[in-house]
Amino acid sequence: MSDIRSTVIELLGQLGSSREARQYLKQFSKVDQTRFAVVKVGGAVLRDHLDALAGALAFLQQLGLTPIVLHGAGPQLDEAMAAAGLPVEKHDGLRVTTEAVMAVVRPVIYQANAALVDALEARGVRARGILHGVFKSHLANPEKLGLVGEIDEVDLAPLSGAIGAGALPVLACLGESASGQMMNINADLAAQELVWAVQPHKVIFLTETGGLLDETGRIISAINLSSDYETLMGAEWVHSGMALKLAAIKTMLDRLPPETSVSITSAAKLTRELFTHTGAGTLIRRGEKIEWLPTLPPDRASQVEALLAQSFGRTLRSDWLTGREVAGWLVAESNRAAALIVHGANGIPYLDKIVVTPEAQGEGLGAALWSALRARCPAMYWRSRVSNPINAWYHQQAEMSYRAGEWVIFAIGLDDWSAFGPLVIDAQARDPGWVSEP
Ligand code: ARG
Repeated sequence: MSDIRSTVIELLGQLGSSREARQYLKQFSKVDQTRFAVVKVGGAVLRDHLDALAGALAFLQQLGLTPIVLHGAGPQLDEAMAAAGLPVEKHDGLRVTTEAVMAVVRPVIYQANAALVDALEARGVRARGILHGVFKSHLANPEKLGLVGEIDEVDLAPLSGAIGAGALPVLACLGESASGQMMNINADLAAQELVWAVQPHKVIFLTETGGLLDETGRIISAINLSSDYETLMGAEWVHSGMALKLAAIKTMLDRLPPETSVSITSAAKLTRELFTHTGAGTLIRRGEKIEWLPTLPPDRASQVEALLAQSFGRTLRSDWLTGREVAGWLVAESNRAAALIVHGANGIPYLDKIVVTPEAQGEGLGAALWSALRARCPAMYWRSRVSNPINAWYHQQAEMSYRAGEWVIFAIGLDDWSAFGPLVIDAQARDPGWVSEP
């Protein structure tokens, strides 16, 4: 096992760095394996990407990670109903499930479940299909919805039993009453109740698109609910389907520990999403607050200074803050992202230092810090060494820039170029604060 593990870490290193991969593997292995992850797989993924899905899950199992897999079968059900000549009828997004519909639905769900279990076992992965005994339910509204169940209780015993036996649990969205009446359960609602009961470290949605899309159709890498939720919900381009999804994820995360994150990705990109900082898909977290503090309390100051030193590969002089006219710090609760603002020339704030750990960057904390900075300082300027790889990004953000020797000076929010000149001169002359400048 440990041989496989180290080979696999080497391989993972090709996606990002093996250090990154090892860090995430350690993080995911630390939690009790019944609590590593709940993976919700849409019916379409199961139907159209079974191979990629089984491959990604087999890979996790080889690493000793056992996610709980929950799958839907929506498109398969629609097809089967059409073939049986039954109309698909929905009420508030729930599939009306008459006795006749249940007769069609039940075997289709069994088949979808067996297809994944078979695909996993064909790869040598022990898997256990779980069709009953997890979702205890009652009929939601028998007159309108027929055999649609509403979950009262989630029994985790069949899942921990499977995991304890080294088998990957593959769970279908079927519930039953105390007397054994079988019910159809909406997959999104089943996922929500399951996640609340399991309290997993990661919640993973495998979809066809592999993430939430922005207004240009590109995948949004990370969403920090505490800073982005209101803005997104108010944005014109966020259509109702996406707003619903976001609201559901917020409700879900509100009842989970703060470190839990949701990843929306595709079967093919799951490994990259899990084992790199930047990921591949959309990472959603409750997020942390970014505070504005006139000075940092000593414990936070030493953490932030250590982070600066590590990230710039230099040491700060012990007196580096003396003589700096500090306006304040913007700093994330975890101290993994921080910016120092000082009073600059002509009353314009100067962005003196900014730092974000790579991991926090992947969580979207860098973007959150930047927007907090923009809100606080409508006008500001900063400098960066010409060789700094971040400059491409700074050029996108800045409205003005000027290269002066080893520095590029950037500015935002100035009225005109004549205001920029004095700032360029000022920025070049500033004390970097490091022990020695090469
Ligand atoms: N690998 C980490 C995780 O799964 C970070 C992923 C970042 N993903 C992203 N889409 N920004 O928790």
